[in-house]
Amino acid sequence: MRQPVIAGNWKMYKTVKESLEYLSNFQAEVKNEGVETVLCAPFLALSALTEKAEGSGIGIGAQNMHWEQEGAYTGEISPTMLKAVNVSYVIVGHSERRTYFSETDEQVRLKTKSALDHDLIPIVCVGETLEERENGNTQEVVHQQVVEAIQGLRSKEVSRLILAYEPVWAIGTGRSATEKDAGDVIQWIRKIVADQYDQQVANEVRILYGGSVKPANIDSFLSNQDIDGALVGGASLDPDTFTQLVKAAS
Ligand code: G3H
Repeated sequence: MRQPVIAGNWKMYKTVKESLEYLSNFQAEVKNEGVETVLCAPFLALSALTEKAEGSGIGIGAQNMHWEQEGAYTGEISPTMLKAVNVSYVIVGHSERRTYFSETDEQVRLKTKSALDHDLIPIVCVGETLEERENGNTQEVVHQQVVEAIQGLRSKEVSRLILAYEPVWAIGTGRSATEKDAGDVIQWIRKIVADQYDQQVANEVRILYGGSVKPANIDSFLSNQDIDGALVGGASLDPDTFTQLVKAAS
């Protein structure tokens, strides 16, 4: 049995003060029994959030990191720095980073491995653009992204990480994939993991759907047995709305 995960990605929203206010409201409302609940916040808010969330069962995640422990990399944050403030998760390879910051599959692989080495759970994002989908290349694109991200990992490491299928055309557009389309690609991802490792690893790895998830459509995604939860952008910004999503998975 895979435990469902509902992860919020706040992207570049919320000051430290706003983040703490959100967490107060969210903690007062949410009952996250049976659901791994994660808030991925801007770097500046992480320390205050982990302190406040301690003991609540709400996991705090970063949205990016460098793969090196330290070094002359101006503007970067390392896995060691995240661990030092009790961060538990990190989003890796989000399409916004791939698109706007030219993040490559190789960098995604380095970050994924480094996160696991530092006892952080990477939430590794993959997904095709609209053009790639319309050209019939979804499977091929996703195959390359998944294989390159998990290349060289041990079976146990793959079982620990979380994959997120986020079709780029569904992110922030209000146009979500259908449950069937998302489920089919996620089934494909599970097959890729089985081919690279074995069926047991494929059965253990959690695979989320992301892209315009909201209270009105979360039930349909969760009804698909291959979809283990959601990575949520816009609908995670309001604590009441995000609570509804967590409740749907409880
Ligand atoms: O990481 C989250 C995704 O980019 C989804 O964003 O829910 O606003 O479409 P969205």
